[in-house]
Amino acid sequence: DAGPLRDRLGRPLTDVRLSVTDRCNFRCRYCMPRELFGAGHAFLPRSELLSFEEITRLLGVFRRGGVRKVRLTGGEPLLRGGLPDLVAMLSGFADLAMTTNGVLLPKHAAVLARNGLHRVTVSLDALDERTFRAMADTPVALSAVLDGITAAREAGLGVKVNTVVQRGVNDHQIEELAAWARDEGVRLRFIEYMDVGTTNGWVRDKVVPAHEVRERVDALWPLAEVAPEVAGEVATRFRYRDGGGEIGIIASVTAPFCQTCTRARVSAVGELYTCLFAARGLDLRALLRGGATDEELYAVLARHWAGRSDRASELRGEEGLRGPRVEMSYIGG
Ligand code: GTP
Ligand code: 5AD
Ligand code: SF4
Ligand code: SF4
Repeated sequence: DAGPLRDRLGRPLTDVRLSVTDRCNFRCRYCMPRELFGAGHAFLPRSELLSFEEITRLLGVFRRGGVRKVRLTGGEPLLRGGLPDLVAMLSGFADLAMTTNGVLLPKHAAVLARNGLHRVTVSLDALDERTFRAMADTPVALSAVLDGITAAREAGLGVKVNTVVQRGVNDHQIEELAAWARDEGVRLRFIEYMDVGTTNGWVRDKVVPAHEVRERVDALWPLAEVAPEVAGEVATRFRYRDGGGEIGIIASVTAPFCQTCTRARVSAVGELYTCLFAARGLDLRALLRGGATDEELYAVLARHWAGRSDRASELRGEEGLRGPRVEMSYIGG
């Protein structure tokens, strides 16, 4: 075995984030603002999406390239019909995870766990109903997300919680969310608001820098930074000095982690993106549907990864990124 594929900066290909749908039952302002993702938005038709067989075959090729970790994303991945069946088909990966808004977990957590999913990451931006609804722009109640988290834990899935922090929107919730996560014993990560896509109206003033989040939590419960659990982890991790568990901060704006970025992304239609902020992807579906052999697919992947030099977050200026780039809900974060 030649080991994982390496790109131009020497970064190995070890993880894939694969989107299974561009649809979502939320309209988070920072991801799918309703004005642009409302009734007039053309979502991908079913026939365009990779089938579960195509996904399984493609991920088998990635595995040969060194991938050990697969994360299923969306939109909201649980809106894709039959998703637990896909999970069962992917049982060979050492780490199989999913990022979800949690609402459909009460229905699906048990079967997902049974079919081989290891863990979920649930997005939760506020613990007060008003802030939650304002951010997610959904009629769904906050309790539905909390029930989803409970269901995942009861099913034996690993659970992390993600909070995107926006100044003036939910930053007053930092302490409360940290307290809740400590009490519940779940791993919370605060995420700096990013300029993913071009529709979310990002401005730097709305980013609450990681150091500020850290100071605010540390003022309540002193923190100590801990080493990453696995190489290339996106979150900086902290443990509570009093033994109250741990918390993370994902500082992709103020402390980019491109140097250790080992992630490939695949859209629901089978395009390979080598960066979250890329403008376009490489059409692997055309090869799959055009009769390419696994050998041929592998050769294309190897060549494409070898040419990768992306490091968008490191190159971001004061004004944010420029130029076209893929939307968050299309690529799954
Ligand atoms: P773990 O496997 O648990 O470490 O998951 P994760 O944190 O990689 O995945 P998750 O879907 O929870 O993403 C957390 C946040 O990190 C989201 O806002 C993602 O968009 C962001 N993120 C993940 N990977 C990258 C990356 O390669 N670059 C940037 N800029 N952000 C990323
Ligand atoms: N900036 C940072 N994180 C974001 N997410 C969605 N949009 C953004 C953004 N603009 C988060 C979601 C989810 C994860 C995949 O990415 O809340 O937890
Ligand atoms: Fe849906 Fe997640 Fe985007 Fe919110 S952040 S709109 S839950 S895909
Ligand atoms: Fe990787 Fe691009 Fe994110 Fe940098 S900005 S960590 S290269 S996905």
